[in-house]
Amino acid sequence: MDSSAKLFVVRARISISINHIVFLLLLAPALLFAQAGNQSTLHLDTGEHIFKSACIACHGPDGRGAPETIAGFERPDSFPDFTRCDQTTAEPNITWQDVITHGGPSRGFSQIMPAFGDALTSEQISKVVKYMRSFCRGKGWARGELNLPRAIATEKAYPEDEVVISSGFNVRGGPGVSNDVIHEQRFGVKNQIEVDVPINFVDQNHVWHGGVGDTTLGVKRVMFSSLRSGSILSLQGSVIVPTGNRAHGLGSGTTTFETFAAFDQLFPTNTFVQFQAGADLPRHTDISPQPVFWRTAVGQSFAANHGLGRLWSPMVEFLANRDLTTGARTNWDVLPQMQVTISHRQHIKADLGVRTPVSNTAGRPVQLMFYILWDWQDGKLTEGW
Ligand code: HEC
Repeated sequence: MDSSAKLFVVRARISISINHIVFLLLLAPALLFAQAGNQSTLHLDTGEHIFKSACIACHGPDGRGAPETIAGFERPDSFPDFTRCDQTTAEPNITWQDVITHGGPSRGFSQIMPAFGDALTSEQISKVVKYMRSFCRGKGWARGELNLPRAIATEKAYPEDEVVISSGFNVRGGPGVSNDVIHEQRFGVKNQIEVDVPINFVDQNHVWHGGVGDTTLGVKRVMFSSLRSGSILSLQGSVIVPTGNRAHGLGSGTTTFETFAAFDQLFPTNTFVQFQAGADLPRHTDISPQPVFWRTAVGQSFAANHGLGRLWSPMVEFLANRDLTTGARTNWDVLPQMQVTISHRQHIKADLGVRTPVSNTAGRPVQLMFYILWDWQDGKLTEGW
């Protein structure tokens, strides 16, 4: 398609009637087309030059966004302020490269963000992304590349803004259904709070009891992260409050302190390993066990359709826990699973797996496990489809 035909298609897709937007939309890539042949005078060779030629009309010279009166469009809720580290560091480079190459709609963003794939080379797009990273001046923010796919049982090291609804159904062994409603929220550069409210249903001698289980309140802190080495380490401390009814098998009846370390490693091939190890320390050890646990998740992500389609992440978890009493045996489980992104923006994801005990199996159920996750920092539930 030649450039004038392409511009016509772009114009045809735009239903917003503000002349300004059409003008900007047509002009930004079109000017670059015109400039591409004459790079020596128009300086498209550094990220800064590219940004200043093609992006400032809408994103402003400092990346905060041009004033609406000048840019001429109403900002979508998700319009980025590139100086805000809390908004930008969570976005991996690959997402930005996609949006710049294929336009906003490729990731469920507004069509006001034009596609530059024909006007800029992928090398120029990498340069402009690198330049845009300089707008966040804060130090110590863990990069979104280290936000690995969430495993069902192994907690990850990256601090998240997300809501997860997670369920387990016993498919072999005593009947039972467990659900967790988990809210995670970042605060400051390195911290995250977590609230986990379980809602469980248990069958005690053919009588079903349902209700809230023991609620976890936790704080996680990133101790170390490096995009270069692909690693991130966090520590978490939690209080598990005995909100569940012990007589009905829904709670432990005592306050428990939990502490763990989580270490995640991403390899250049998009293979990853996540480790978590910790201990539960109940106040009353006479009524509640005192387990230590260690968990590992190994997985690989595959992006369909050259990175534009769904992200599939098969994983296997190896889960162990053991009471700190003499003679106690270690419970080992394996949990193969598949996580997949549901929305175009990849902010809604689901995961399905089966947890099977492989040692000390007596009385321990096989569970079908499932979760749905919403990364609310990336957009509303209704956005990004
Ligand atoms: C016509 C105006 C316009 C121009 C020109 C423009 N953008 Fe955008 N851009 C937008 C809008 C509007 C959004 C927000 C879309 C949304 O949130 O739905 C956006 C979003 C983005 C995002 C996504 C950020 C995120 O939240 O993940 C990136 C990256 C981006 N622009 C980079 C660029 C670069 C680089 C250029 C220049 C090569 C550029 N834009 C030129 C309007 C523009």
